[in-house]
Amino acid sequence: MASIRSLSDHLINQIAAGEVIERPAAALKELLENSVDAGARTVDVELAGGGVKLIRVADDGTGIAREDLALAVARHATSKIATPADLEAIATLGFRGEALASIAAVSRLSLTSRSADAAHAWRIEVDAGEVGIPQPAALAAGTTVTVQELYFNTPARRKFLRTDATEYGHCEEAFQRIALSHPEVGFTLSHNGSVRHRLLGAGRRARVDALVGDAFAAQAATVDASGPGFTLAGWAVRPAYATTGRDAQYLFINGRFVRDRVLTHALREAYRDILHNDRQPAYALWLSIEPRLVDVNVHPTKIEVRFRDSGALHQFVRRAVEKALAATAAEQPAVSAAERLGVAAALTPPLVARTPAAERSTQEALGLAAREPAAFYARLFGERAAPRTGMPDLPNDDEHPLGFALAQLHGIYVLAQNRDGLVLVDMHAAHERILYERLKNSADRALPMQPLLVPMPFAADSLDVATAEENTETLSALGFSLSALGPSTLAVRGIPALLGDADAAVLARAVLADLREYGGSGVLTARRDELLSTMACHGAVRAHRSLTVPEMNALLREMEATERAGQCNHGRPTWYQLSLADLDRMFMRGR
Ligand SMILES: Nc1ncnc2c1ncn2[C@@H]1O[C@H](COP(=O)(O)OP(=O)(O)OP(=O)(O)O)[C@@H](O)[C@H]1O
Ligand SMILES: [Mg+2]
Repeated sequence: MASIRSLSDHLINQIAAGEVIERPAAALKELLENSVDAGARTVDVELAGGGVKLIRVADDGTGIAREDLALAVARHATSKIATPADLEAIATLGFRGEALASIAAVSRLSLTSRSADAAHAWRIEVDAGEVGIPQPAALAAGTTVTVQELYFNTPARRKFLRTDATEYGHCEEAFQRIALSHPEVGFTLSHNGSVRHRLLGAGRRARVDALVGDAFAAQAATVDASGPGFTLAGWAVRPAYATTGRDAQYLFINGRFVRDRVLTHALREAYRDILHNDRQPAYALWLSIEPRLVDVNVHPTKIEVRFRDSGALHQFVRRAVEKALAATAAEQPAVSAAERLGVAAALTPPLVARTPAAERSTQEALGLAAREPAAFYARLFGERAAPRTGMPDLPNDDEHPLGFALAQLHGIYVLAQNRDGLVLVDMHAAHERILYERLKNSADRALPMQPLLVPMPFAADSLDVATAEENTETLSALGFSLSALGPSTLAVRGIPALLGDADAAVLARAVLADLREYGGSGVLTARRDELLSTMACHGAVRAHRSLTVPEMNALLREMEATERAGQCNHGRPTWYQLSLADLDRMFMRGR
């Protein structure tokens, strides 16, 4: 083997660049972060050739003094932190003093800047790490960094780049993340001379509308919560509008886009029993957390962070989003069948003869005189809501957004009339959710424990044993009791009473794995909820069961009062609205 020698600074920078500047988008991200850190109000980005040929970022921030220019491109030189204590509470996006040096090591970089008190601007050029002498330059204010021919001196890296279009796509994503995380800053982006984005400094809503799409926030639930040391605000998609794409998943922590396992898991949990199969949650959320409670110094591109108490944060985020999504059918804006399913557009008019509305409802009212006594309804829904009898006098009652039942269709759907038009309800799905929510509420969040007559020992690794010992309190709050029998054996002494039939060891392993990964466990509540969901499914009114009008009305009232009543336990919608306008369109009325 060759003898050991110190690497040259240039080689060190190139190695660092390999980590930090993985592709043009990473260089763009670093430059944009510097502009934001410099307090810029507007930032203009110009790209060419997917960012490989040119990245120019011009800002109107504080600027850099002449004597600091060379330091700015030197490795381990930063104005953002000074002492180890500063590293404990980082308030800026940058802190390592590494980005510009890394970019400069693999490109031709020029840095022009003018600090507020300077008579004019100064420029330095760095060519493959060779730093030139500052020269006078023209610039009104702020800083302009120009990066040309990225990776020209590292051909191996260059070979890993994709087409210009793909690299541009990544750059645009990086741009959007920063623009979303800092809506107060105005941004423009152009590629090969054509303007792609022009964003005025604005509030979060306007920025989300501009970048994620107008429909997103309008259809999403508003999240706004605060906890000890943190706040969470933004929008989370309502299940009915979720798609299979993962592209709109934006989570910002103290103004930084991150991809965090703990929080992603918390968000998935918040959607657990309201999102259908392969649908993905979509969200744009801003988490503010006291800088001391989060460590951003864990990943070369800072896309990951560590939390002081990830369990508490997991719980906070899950609850905040759960609460935002828990709207009852009364609180939630109606999901328009026509809009979601293209119903109006799909139907070819007019296949059926028109029946005047008044006549229609009389027919149905006649056909649907209550046949079963209200006692059946009482059995079905318990004592909570008193049954209404017959058709109401005021079908447009404001208190009853789901309106009043008209009829049952093929034993499956309930048709109701409300102020806006027609409401269609999947009666089994809706009833299932109502029962499920009621079971969950009565079981409450505290899980009572059932001690096992004979403790159940199981083989565990040392990490499991340590996790069990460190989390006895959390475990017992979950209705679980575990104790170590030896360095590689744990015993289950008690499990949540509701899950009495579960395989205790399997359950214990899953809970420990969760505790280790996310600092909190949803496994038990998830299992319990699965069980309750099955019970609800069996308890719910079956299809083809004929319901009386009072029973159907009672179902509507329960939906209005029940959280998450807009989705069944498997995330399918339980009801749709067909407005009079939709119906008029179908029948080409008023054209
Ligand atoms: N657009 C800018 N406006 C004002 N100062 C800047 C700008 N870009 C860089 N600087 C200065 O140059 C220094 C070095 O920038 P660089 O990005 O290399 O490191 P950093 O931002 O401190 O840390 P990190 O490597 O984590 O990004 C910064 O600390 C800052 O003082
Ligand atoms: Mg930086």
